[in-house]
Amino acid sequence: TIIHVILTGGIGSRLWPLSRKSQPKQYLEIFEGKSLFELTVERNSDIADKVIVVGNVDNCHLSRKILEKRNTPYLDIVESTPRNTAAAIAFAAFAANPDDILIVTPMDHIIEKKDLYDIAVVDAIEKAANGYIVTFGIVPTKPETGYGYIEAKGENVLSFREKPNLVTAKAFIAKKNFLWNSGMFCFKAGVLLEELKHFQPKVYKKSKKVWEHNDNGKLDLDLSLEIPSISIDYAVMERSKKIKVVPSQFLWSDLGSFESVYDYLLSKGHPVDENGNMTIGTQNYTAFIGLKNTILIATDNANLVLQKEYSQDVKDLYNELELEK
Ligand code: GDD
Ligand code: MG
Repeated sequence: TIIHVILTGGIGSRLWPLSRKSQPKQYLEIFEGKSLFELTVERNSDIADKVIVVGNVDNCHLSRKILEKRNTPYLDIVESTPRNTAAAIAFAAFAANPDDILIVTPMDHIIEKKDLYDIAVVDAIEKAANGYIVTFGIVPTKPETGYGYIEAKGENVLSFREKPNLVTAKAFIAKKNFLWNSGMFCFKAGVLLEELKHFQPKVYKKSKKVWEHNDNGKLDLDLSLEIPSISIDYAVMERSKKIKVVPSQFLWSDLGSFESVYDYLLSKGHPVDENGNMTIGTQNYTAFIGLKNTILIATDNANLVLQKEYSQDVKDLYNELELEK
């Protein structure tokens, strides 16, 4: 069985104040009447037999509504608190059979050229069936520090490095054989769990316990808090020797930070002034004086003025604001 696993439990903290608990960006119907979540389901619906959504109490009803509208067979895993992607993926893997092939995707990507996407996924499924953990490599266009980097030799992965600093990212780009990790993965459930058990025994053990105590897919809060919070990239991808990469030709935009949203909007003709300044979320006439590559993000009750290159720092602001509550 081929299962599409959608991770939709992140906070989207790098998109504050656009992304809020009360209005998660992935469900806004802003792409020809469809949301990012629906587009993600649609993109994989002819490949996968069913869907597993790993989400949270605040958004599971929104996911459900779309899956039911589309008559997609699905299983809903509802986290009481986010414990990062290693645990989220582990829950889906525990829910599946060891030989099931999982295609794990986030839902904040825009992918164009579906025919090329299909070619990459078919290739990935074949490699996953042979026991590999497959990543999708995107040709980098700049030294982005918010992504993982794959050092590739053909389909083989020499190394994987999550979120390098700027100096390292620049060195990677200069070397030419590094690809961005798209954040999508394909593997047999059992293979991933074996690797997780090997490299992060505590995450494995605690996630297993949480899954075994699930109540109709709903996960216990206290038990969940015992799981170390680590992403799958640091937990497994940087360490496993079973990683392969499918060099991917489809168009990929990550909408995870304002810099990537900016790049995407720019490519779609959203206006910027001659110094690269842009507004998001307001039709008001806005003037930028003495500023370059600055983004004004306006919402009803909070504004953000951001130098594009500092987009990764929005997360820190979000965390500070959360602490003050
Ligand atoms: N269910 C659940 N629970 N989902 C989660 C959790 C969690 O605790 N934490 C994050 N997610 C979801 C997010 O909503 C998103 O869909 C996906 O998992 C990835 O998390 P991000 O927080 O967006 O990861 P990232 O963008 O920093 O990095 C990943 O994606 C990059 C490309 O977009 C990595 O895989 C990088 O290597 C990659 O380059
Ligand atoms: Mg992301």
